[in-house]
Formats: sequence, structure tokens, C-alpha cells
Amino acid sequence: MEHFTSPFAASDFARAQALENRQFLTALLRQSQAHRYYSHPFLEICNQQTPPREWVVFILTSFYKIVAPYTALLFTLGGRAPTLQSRFALLDNIYEEMGCGDIAAAHPSLYVDMLASIGVACAAAERAPTLLPIHQINTHLSDCIERRHFAVACAVLASAEATIPPCFPVLAQLAQRAFPSVDLRFFERHGARDEGHSDDAAALFALTCQSSLFESVATAVYRDLDCRANLFDEWSQALASR
Ligand SMILES: [Fe+2]
Repeated sequence: MEHFTSPFAASDFARAQALENRQFLTALLRQSQAHRYYSHPFLEICNQQTPPREWVVFILTSFYKIVAPYTALLFTLGGRAPTLQSRFALLDNIYEEMGCGDIAAAHPSLYVDMLASIGVACAAAERAPTLLPIHQINTHLSDCIERRHFAVACAVLASAEATIPPCFPVLAQLAQRAFPSVDLRFFERHGARDEGHSDDAAALFALTCQSSLFESVATAVYRDLDCRANLFDEWSQALASR
């Protein structure tokens, strides 16, 4: 946890079920690194060429539909947290997402500023069609958060936060190459910090899961990664078909 003091004691993680849960998720997240998301050609794309401006605008505008609803999803998850401690632990991530008390620094606000700096008005980003993989990511995430066991949602959150460190530097680099004066504050708030969010979600998983859920947890984590890899496919195809 970055902003708040952890509400948990070491003894909370020493219970047999917590140890088994932690071992399971650690192994799952390690295996998931072999998913095609993590070796997708899109992640190498900025080493190859100067990106066309229109394509970068397309990518960053489409990604707004991932950024915009994320705080609401986290709040919903917080509302489903089974204990005061788990709710408090999630608040650390929510506080960061909400700009640590400054709405101008809330992550969606920073993203809108970034888009404005490359000539995309917020209204245009709102109006842009939601790409199918993004619709699927959001639908799956909200289904996990609203209808599945809290631990399933925490595992998907841990995996989703782990997808950020390899991807966001690529988006930032594309943005900067196409638009040298782009406002990068959104991307500067991400990176190692998201590894912390992933670890926090994994800790909540360890404290709340039960072995009978393991299979559905693995299915949900891989479903999220499939959708994210499909998004890379769509972005890459948009470049190829120019
Ligand atoms: Fe994060």
C-alpha cells in the first residue's frame, strides 16, 4: 500500500487457506506471463517505426473507454469488500486513481488532459465508438466485480494491474514520438505503482479466496488477458490497414 497503512497483520497471511491462496495466485500470475498478451508484437511496435499521428490518436482515443469507467469499477469493488479491512485496503488504490484528493489529478482527468494536448477534445473521446475488445474487457470486469465472488474480482484486478507496466510505456512512447509536446502526466502516474496495486489485490485475494474457486479464478484471469490481447490485435490491424 502506497498512501495508507496496511490494515492487516502478518498473522492474517499465515493461515493455511491464505498461504494456499497466495501460492495459487502467484503461480497463476507467473504462468499468465506466457499468455500472448505479454509477447504481442504491438509491444515492440514503437521500436520499428515513427507512428502515424492519426493511428496514435485512434489508439489513445479508444483507450479512454478503458480509463473512464475504471474508478467506478473500483468503487463498486470496494462496496463489495467483505470486511472493513479489505475495503480500507482497496481505498488506497481508489485514492490514487482519484488524484490523492485533487480532482484535476484524478487519472481520468489526467487522461483527458493528455488527449487535449494531442488535439482530442473530451467530448470527441466520449463520442468515439467503443472498440469490441474494450467493450469485452469492461463487461467482463464489471461482471466479475458485481456478480462473482470478491476473490475472483481481486484476482482479475491483480492480473489487470500487472498488464499495465509492459503496455503503458509503449503508449507513452508512441504518443511522444507522434506528438513531442504531449502531456505525459497520466503515464507518469503509472508503472511500478501498478505493481503495488497488483500486489495489494493479490493480498486481498489471499485473505478472501477458497480453494473451490481456483478454477473459475484461472478462467476469469485468462478471459481478461484474451480480451486485452484482442485489443492489441485491433490496434495493430488498424496500423496495417492504413
Ligand atoms: Fe494501478
